[in-house]
Amino acid sequence: MSEHQTETETEPDRERAAEATEPDAAPSTATATTESASRPEPSTERTTVAGETDETTRPEWVQYDFDGESKLSVHDLDVYYGDEHALKGVSMEIPEESVTALIGPSGCGKSTYLRCLNRMNDRIKAARIDGSVELDGQNVYDDNANLVELRKRVGMVFQSPNPFPKSIRDNISYGPRKHGDINTGLLSRLVGRSDKEAEEKLVERSLRDAALWDEVSGRLDDNALGLSGGQQQRLCIARCLATDPEVILMDEPASALDPIATSKIEDLITDLAEEYTVVVVTHNMQQAARISDQTAVFLTGGELVEYDDTEKIFENPESQRVEDYISGKFG
Ligand SMILES: Nc1ncnc2c1ncn2[C@@H]1O[C@H](COP(=O)(O)OP(=O)(O)OP(=O)(O)O)[C@@H](O)[C@H]1O
Ligand SMILES: [Mg+2]
Repeated sequence: MSEHQTETETEPDRERAAEATEPDAAPSTATATTESASRPEPSTERTTVAGETDETTRPEWVQYDFDGESKLSVHDLDVYYGDEHALKGVSMEIPEESVTALIGPSGCGKSTYLRCLNRMNDRIKAARIDGSVELDGQNVYDDNANLVELRKRVGMVFQSPNPFPKSIRDNISYGPRKHGDINTGLLSRLVGRSDKEAEEKLVERSLRDAALWDEVSGRLDDNALGLSGGQQQRLCIARCLATDPEVILMDEPASALDPIATSKIEDLITDLAEEYTVVVVTHNMQQAARISDQTAVFLTGGELVEYDDTEKIFENPESQRVEDYISGKFG
């Protein structure tokens, strides 16, 4: 089995471990540095897949002008897995309180990019990262960055729902308990309630925000693994919301779900964007068009080719390759 397969297949386990342990205690070999001395020379040869034209990407295609503030600012991000240059010089401003869709053919680096935003790639031994990712103007790759805090602020939801084999209630309260947000006694003293009440409130609020409360309010002590796939995915979103994030990263969150469960997740994503900054990878172009405010198109070789309002990307892209990809000519 290749290293990539190993890493991918254990991702949910790793995420579970991340929530169960101090993330920055995990061994990390990834580095973020502006030095390029030890970096393999970037390939000058364009790799194409069948159907892609050999066009040169213009810098203005990824300069997205929008009203409002950037929540995340990515500058010259390169990711290498050993000698493989998986992401090439990506710069991108992600607006707050909106949905940003990441699309592109398999292997173009969407998951790699998403994992850079909360330093999940640190856990992949072969990964090396250059460049910067600023969250509210602070580089998350600074040496003194607090990874526990970062992953609270930038939560993640994976393709396959990965609830803990615990009760629905415990799935929600586990993270806040671990982080000491409940059960410390402090909140109880401040609001004059017991921790138990604070926990109940948090569980209800998180489940309501994830549009799951009505379906599970009478069975909070049941094992989460007894929920349907779509319910499990909303539970994972509720678990993410319980730690009070600002950004929610989702990697193909609905690809394992049926159309009804998918539509619930899509509605939820749209609602979440009123309060959170959502970045979502999807293979489903109709889904990207339905739920996102802006869309970034990655193409072969780990290149961000075009980034703009979703409508513009789908109706009138600048890049011929993007147009070909969107119209289904390759990918
Ligand atoms: N853990 C890893 N170790 C080594 N190489 C990896 C690892 N993860 C990804 N890669 C490589 O980096 C490149 C980008 O992979 P990535 O998973 O980011 O693509 P993707 O766009 O998310 O693809 P998909 O749509 O299939 O999920 C691929 O060539 C892949 O083989
Ligand atoms: Mg992926």
